[in-house]
Amino acid sequence: MKLAADSSTIEERLADGLLRVERAFDEQLQSALPAVEELCRHAERYRGKLLRPTLLLLSGMGSAQDAPIIDDRHVVAAATVEMIHMATLVHDDVLDDASIRRRCPTVNALRGNETAVILGDYLISNAFHLCSKVGDASLNLRLGAVTNALCEGELVQLSRRHDLSLDRATYIQIVRRKTAVLVGACCEIGARLSGAPTEVVDACYRVGERLGIAFQIQDDLLDLTGDEATVGKSIGRDLEKGKLTLPTILFLERESSKDRVAVLRAIELRDGAALKSLLLASGAVRGARDFACELVADARKELPHLRQPEVRAVFETLADKVVDRAN
Ligand code: FPP
Ligand code: MG
Repeated sequence: MKLAADSSTIEERLADGLLRVERAFDEQLQSALPAVEELCRHAERYRGKLLRPTLLLLSGMGSAQDAPIIDDRHVVAAATVEMIHMATLVHDDVLDDASIRRRCPTVNALRGNETAVILGDYLISNAFHLCSKVGDASLNLRLGAVTNALCEGELVQLSRRHDLSLDRATYIQIVRRKTAVLVGACCEIGARLSGAPTEVVDACYRVGERLGIAFQIQDDLLDLTGDEATVGKSIGRDLEKGKLTLPTILFLERESSKDRVAVLRAIELRDGAALKSLLLASGAVRGARDFACELVADARKELPHLRQPEVRAVFETLADKVVDRAN
């Protein structure tokens, strides 16, 4: 089914598209087995801002030559990327020993790690099953490369836990793989399904990749400086699990900093309050935020590649929200 090229606004088309995405998502995950169904319904509560489907649909509408239309392939691809994302969250909460996600207990907290691992597997399997219904092998191929990168990012991150020599380039490499490659692919796929030329498809990927890195930097800042009630998920997990994030890396880059010993001690003692106040006072939190804002600015520079000016405007607002958010 195609949404009629009528006079509805981009926001209305997007809202309608997201409803169709939610429907496709829920239909795919229906199970006659109560043990499975109950877990899927629980995991669906992790569905939040639908950032990835939103980017895919906006990119698809923005790069259309004629009317900005969302077709069924966009909808299925958008439901697929959200399901991939959900699978990674279920597994990530096992790795991080997290107990809260989107204000709900995590699957691992509720049912233990074994169930969470298999539910994550079930979600990733369903994501590729759903995607196959588009009948476009290149879509499966592309998303397979994305999930490979996601796992690589996590494996590199695991290999560098508790490593105080982790540098900025390696941190960005991890973040690119674990978060930004999927966000970039959302924008790229939306454009490709709309028949956009290669230069537009590539520009869309760059928009998503930059926003994705900025998003993860902000996510890491919230883990350091936010509170659980506002963020809606377990925080302080990066410190607890020995994951160095950008503010700490920026701080440690400055060899001669007088508070270096205090920062190293806060890391050793897993003292989140001390680390937060030292990194805030030193300007390292501000430095990380500035870095993320620059990436958003870089992403915005690519937006003129989108052919639909109305969509560009919606994209610009969304780009700012990637860093201006408290959860
Ligand atoms: C969030 O990190 C984690 C990711 C964006 C990627 C997680 C990927 C995996 C666990 C690999 C499993 C992959 C598949 C294909 C199932 P975070 O802990 O910084 O974010 P958080 O604050 O939301 O917990
Ligand atoms: Mg986590």
